[in-house]
Amino acid sequence: MTTETSQSADGSVSAAAGTLTIVDNRTGRTYEVPIEDGTIRSTELRKIKVDEDDFGIMTYDPAYMNTASCRSSITYIDGDKGILEYRGYPIEQLAEKSSYLEVAYLLIYGRLPSRSELEEWTHLITTHTFVHENIKDFMQGFRYDAHPMGMLLASVGALSTFYPEANQIKDPELRMMQVVRLVAKMPTLAAFAYRHNRGMPYVYPDNDLSYSGNFLSMLYKIAELKYQPDPRLERALDVLFILHADHEQNCSTSAVRSVGSSQVDPYSATAAGIAALYGPLHGGANEAVLRMLRRIGTLENIPDFIAGVKAGEQRLMGFGHRVYKNFDPRAKIIKRAVEDVFEVTGKNPLLHIATELEKIALEDEYFISRKLYPNVDFYSGLIYEALGMPVEMFPVLFAIGRTSGWIAQWLEMIDDGEQKIARPRQIYTGARGVDYVPMAERS
Ligand code: CMC
Repeated sequence: MTTETSQSADGSVSAAAGTLTIVDNRTGRTYEVPIEDGTIRSTELRKIKVDEDDFGIMTYDPAYMNTASCRSSITYIDGDKGILEYRGYPIEQLAEKSSYLEVAYLLIYGRLPSRSELEEWTHLITTHTFVHENIKDFMQGFRYDAHPMGMLLASVGALSTFYPEANQIKDPELRMMQVVRLVAKMPTLAAFAYRHNRGMPYVYPDNDLSYSGNFLSMLYKIAELKYQPDPRLERALDVLFILHADHEQNCSTSAVRSVGSSQVDPYSATAAGIAALYGPLHGGANEAVLRMLRRIGTLENIPDFIAGVKAGEQRLMGFGHRVYKNFDPRAKIIKRAVEDVFEVTGKNPLLHIATELEKIALEDEYFISRKLYPNVDFYSGLIYEALGMPVEMFPVLFAIGRTSGWIAQWLEMIDDGEQKIARPRQIYTGARGVDYVPMAERS
């Protein structure tokens, strides 16, 4: 609790360890604010007032540059050291040894499953991949060229109307049922959106296949009786899902938590996450990278492009990160996966442009001084393209992987007694008490 402290005659203040001493120069009063986990509670600052009528001090933090909005034990990131861990496990180990469904279990339940638990979890997910036929009809109602991310956003939102019991978020059993459905149905909805865009009939899930293998089947199966995914592509896709599974309080996860804090059902909260991920600065970045590489077109055009970036005309998409200021560990893993995928599919000429662009940027003072390095999206688009995906599908793939993270964060929030409906404050800068002017009298 913040306490007001007294100042001695020489002006020195005796303060307890583990506190922050604040002197309000407007009043000369001194306050001691407790520091816990390297943070102070913003509400403690409200006690700092000039007089009784004063609202108290607020913090101003547009874009949440320095505000922790929750306690979380899901994902740890050290942006300077390039560390990413899910529940304490380094991303490098999970990408090498685990599967997406196991990682989803880890994120959601907080620990690695035993063999039988993983089997049960996999069975649960596999047997909930089908969607109601009306969802299919709903998706068929979209225009032929609808962006698949817009379709995913709408259809995930629509799921809440098929499972009205999902709004009973305090019921742990019902809650877990929706968690299973969300993880299970996301690839189905994503694949339907893709097929719609191609004007192809939707393919129903094949429960004999793995999570990623089934997704590939729903995307690419044509007339064959059984689709056999290439195990290397299946694995590459699984690794991409693992890498995208969670990233602590990013824009879309904050959207899920913020919307979820109103106690709405998890489908609606997840739809909010998808909406946030749709934006070019978040999940749309890999789409933007591919478009950028195509625009650059040849190696000769790179210097002009870089000059344009430095002049502030455009951004080098796939570079820079709010948190990673040294390297993005996911980018390193993806770069390796690119090689594996290209072994199967053949090299994409855009890879040359990407590698050259990276090389030039990493040696350039503009990027070095701003700590701009390739992020997860710089190479993921190349893999997606090699897998035969159109750019519009890139954020959709991101959304499939991120679903387990969103839902783990949502579950954590529901059980967090400190959380309430999210409601930031503002600094009001507009007019006050203005009299209404009838239309005829307006100039
Ligand atoms: N190209 C050129 N300049 C850049 C870039 C870039 N990609 N990113 C940042 N800068 C510059 C920016 O202009 C600013 O320069 P100055 O100080 O001279 O004004 C400085 O670097 C700091 O940038 P910022 O916008 O304050 O940094 P931020 O932390 O707000 O932005 C970012 C992070 C990811 C939005 C940004 O780096 C960006 O727009 N990158 C391109 C889009 C992208 O690849 N997004 C994917 C992010 S990773 C996937 C995910 O986790 O969502």
